[in-house]
Amino acid sequence: MERSSWPSRWVFILAAIGSAAGLGNLWRFPYLAYENGGAAFVIAIIIANFVIGIPLLLFEVGIGQMKQKGAPDALGAIKPIFRYIGWLALVFGFIVLSYYMSVMAWGIDYLGSAFTLAWAGNSQDFFFNTVLQISSGVNDIGGISWPVFAGFLFAWALVYFSVWKGVKSVSPVVKVTVTLPFVILLLLIFRAVTLPGAMEGLKLFFVPEWGALLNPKLWLAAFSQVFFSLSIAFGIMIAYGSLKPHSEELGGSVLWVAAGNFLVSLLSGIAVFGTLGYMAHIQNIPVADVVAGGPGLAFVVLPLALSLLPTLAIIFSVLYFIMFASLAIDSAFSLLEGFAIPFRDRMPHLSTKKVALIISIIVAMAGIPFTTKAGLYYLDIIDHFVVNYGLVIVGLLEVLVVGWLWRGSEFQKYVNAHSKIKIGRVFNILVKAVIPLFLTFLLVWNIINEFKTPYEGYPTSALIGIGVVPLILAPLVALILDKVATRWNNGE
Ligand code: PHE
Repeated sequence: MERSSWPSRWVFILAAIGSAAGLGNLWRFPYLAYENGGAAFVIAIIIANFVIGIPLLLFEVGIGQMKQKGAPDALGAIKPIFRYIGWLALVFGFIVLSYYMSVMAWGIDYLGSAFTLAWAGNSQDFFFNTVLQISSGVNDIGGISWPVFAGFLFAWALVYFSVWKGVKSVSPVVKVTVTLPFVILLLLIFRAVTLPGAMEGLKLFFVPEWGALLNPKLWLAAFSQVFFSLSIAFGIMIAYGSLKPHSEELGGSVLWVAAGNFLVSLLSGIAVFGTLGYMAHIQNIPVADVVAGGPGLAFVVLPLALSLLPTLAIIFSVLYFIMFASLAIDSAFSLLEGFAIPFRDRMPHLSTKKVALIISIIVAMAGIPFTTKAGLYYLDIIDHFVVNYGLVIVGLLEVLVVGWLWRGSEFQKYVNAHSKIKIGRVFNILVKAVIPLFLTFLLVWNIINEFKTPYEGYPTSALIGIGVVPLILAPLVALILDKVATRWNNGE
């Protein structure tokens, strides 16, 4: 059976931007910029893109395109043992997808409620009590939250029907869901900057504190943000690269992906801070008092600000959550595709639909705990550990492979033969020294901090049970997946 591929170079670029642009752009980037010196942070992000993001993205897309295989087999084609790195990346991707779907579910619930502005008046209560129905703490599971569960089923249906025919269904979906957020962000920006107070908000985002550039914390934040934001180290970009035909341009496409993703972050920052500025203005409080990051920004503060708009509050709220859902959906199904593509390769006798269905059902079952009333706590803990450790470890292993363990300049030759821009000495220095050193530093830094201050004050038992245990089990699961997939491959 012939392996499918993207209908055009631009569809790949859109799909990869779709994977990259997600909650990291919308709720993580603006807040980090605010905390780390405004425009100084934006500049650090640009530098981090060039130093760490683009080289790793080029490696992932490049190795996928070169080997025409998903993560385990593309890495395994360099040396068989490297396939375990690919499986490990997929295991972490599996975990992220299992909880990402609950976040998407909240967004869908909000989209439904936007038509009546159901949260107006008390957005905090709406988020925690009406939607999440949050329990008293991480040890109190409290049963399923039905609004979340309903949104979850709906989100899974959307994701499944986006990937069920592989690239054939993904391609039309990304054309809509990746362009739409750009349009909606521009509308939100236009609405925000024409309101009083917006400039006060934008000042927080844009006025640079150059001194912050001397703070190592800014660089750590910028580098790990770029890493997370480009969806590196989950096997996704390898899988997406593997659907690029050999003949297709490589390096320039990777640059487009990084640029598109950066643009989404920048536009989100402007929309978010402009809107917050307006809200602070009408409430007569300093903008700094309303700034938040994470779910608090996306589900409490911004919805409140949108409900206070003088005109068209409902329309802008609906638009905001349509944007939210479109940002989330392609990140979600990219995780699924990262997983599905290696299995599709190994089991050509199974239909694309069946592979997608089996994987969707398994991941959805694994995701049910995140729809309970304690789901937010579980999600918060596991996300912290997978992103700060799992991701960094896989990234580190990948650069060790490309920088040190893969003899010869095969990769470089391939890239240069297929790209408008060429790589050489600088790329080598980055992957041999700069990136591995940085990632090691980041890992050590995170571990030290973990011991200094237990994450968010959760009980140690919860941090170990929900965060550390999955990390430790991940390599074991990777081994099992490899065994199972090899057996299937041999037709047993
Ligand atoms: N890149 C996504 C974001 O910025 C997060 C993500 C990472 C999604 C990996 C899928 C896979 O939100």
